[in-house]
Amino acid sequence: MTTQQKATLSFEDGTPSVDFPVYKGTVGPDVVDIRKMYGATGKFTFDPGFLSTASCESKITYIDGDKGELLYRGYPIEQLAVNCDYLETCYLLLNGDLPNPAQKKDFEGRVLKHTMIHEQMTRFFQGFRRDAHPMAVLVGCVGALSAFYHDSLDIQNPEHRFVSAIRLIAKMPTLVAMAYKYSQGQPFMYPQNNLSYAANFMRMMFGTPCEEYVPNDVLVRALDRILILHADHEQNASTSTVRLAGSSGANPFACIAAGIATLWGPAHGGANEACLLMLNEIQERGGVEKIGEFVKEVKDKNSHTRLMGFGHRVYKNYDPRAKLMRETCHEVLNELGLHNDPLFALAMKLEQIALEDDYFVQRKLYPNVDFYSGIVQRAMGMPTEMFTCIFALARTVGWIAQWGEMISEPDQKIGRPRQLFTGATRRDVKPIGNR
Ligand code: CMC
Repeated sequence: MTTQQKATLSFEDGTPSVDFPVYKGTVGPDVVDIRKMYGATGKFTFDPGFLSTASCESKITYIDGDKGELLYRGYPIEQLAVNCDYLETCYLLLNGDLPNPAQKKDFEGRVLKHTMIHEQMTRFFQGFRRDAHPMAVLVGCVGALSAFYHDSLDIQNPEHRFVSAIRLIAKMPTLVAMAYKYSQGQPFMYPQNNLSYAANFMRMMFGTPCEEYVPNDVLVRALDRILILHADHEQNASTSTVRLAGSSGANPFACIAAGIATLWGPAHGGANEACLLMLNEIQERGGVEKIGEFVKEVKDKNSHTRLMGFGHRVYKNYDPRAKLMRETCHEVLNELGLHNDPLFALAMKLEQIALEDDYFVQRKLYPNVDFYSGIVQRAMGMPTEMFTCIFALARTVGWIAQWGEMISEPDQKIGRPRQLFTGATRRDVKPIGNR
């Protein structure tokens, strides 16, 4: 962070003008450091939704939304997706650079040692209804991990932070698969550590103790790519939640549970589920013939209907992850012979119509990664309500890397935004009989 210039803020109400330092990052917009603003002027800044606010300094992930660029630790997502696997990506996000073969082996070994869940945790699941949303189960169970792993909760100790990170990365697939198995009334599958991270997860999801599960390489690669593409995305809503929760000194398991809760919303991680529900709805209305009618509804502001899987808060050009996911989508559909499946045909037609429609073109609303990842996951046989859990599984490493970066800052402070208050001013309580 270097400072070369200053910004001057002047007021019309007689408040003296104030100078603020302007910092340059290695890339991306400069930032005006307004930390001294309240002390100097008695005024706050107002930025609901944080559209113009850099909430932290970070070295992990960089997005250029106008260019459609996503870099993890400087490496373009397009190169990571074809040259690396998910655990290498995890190592990169946590440690700052890609592992060499020995580092990779060591890291994988550490993750494998932690894939099992404390046996007593299995009892938590019995307390949930079988038809509970798996994200509800996941929020509860990940938070509950803090009650089991006391030996890694000293957040000021880097070794504890590292062990917690490894535990979370290792246990998430097991927990997500358990949430699914519970909803199906099937026995939980223990992890099998001679399989890759993605293959192991697929086996815990789709295998049963009754017969050998043989993972399909194309599907395993597709799942691994989904995990890489969702591994981090700088200061989005769930990551900011994890940082804010962590800023109070809360333990990492509790912070990640807060991130999972935030991710659940349909404007964030819930979009791929919402997208599939939307496709089903169009299908029920009559399929491809009804796309025009649906798109008309989406364009009508009063309908409050959005085309799910389209648009992004940051990417105002094509989401680079969507390009890679689109490629994977076609690979998976070919492998499974699903190109003519009515729902997939509908999705492809919707994509084509929206990409040509003026409403979407003018607003730069392109398909985002979730449009395709929902289709891929459905083709793999993932139930729709599991999609956001898989996003949470993938994003856990990003959350924990961002959390760790924040905790390691020497002058880290508890997050405490301010407000523009427009409610009632001071007034007196009347006795109940006079109200
Ligand atoms: N369908 C129809 N219209 C849309 C959509 C959409 N999906 N997204 C934005 N618009 C319109 C919006 O109505 C507005 O129009 P106007 O200028 O006429 O008022 C304009 O485009 C700008 O919208 P905005 O709400 O200011 O855009 P935003 O950047 O705040 O919203 C978004 C981003 C992702 C919340 C929104 O595009 C959306 O709701 N998309 C659907 C949900 C979705 O797919 N979310 C997943 C995001 S990717 C996963 C992740 O990274 O978490």
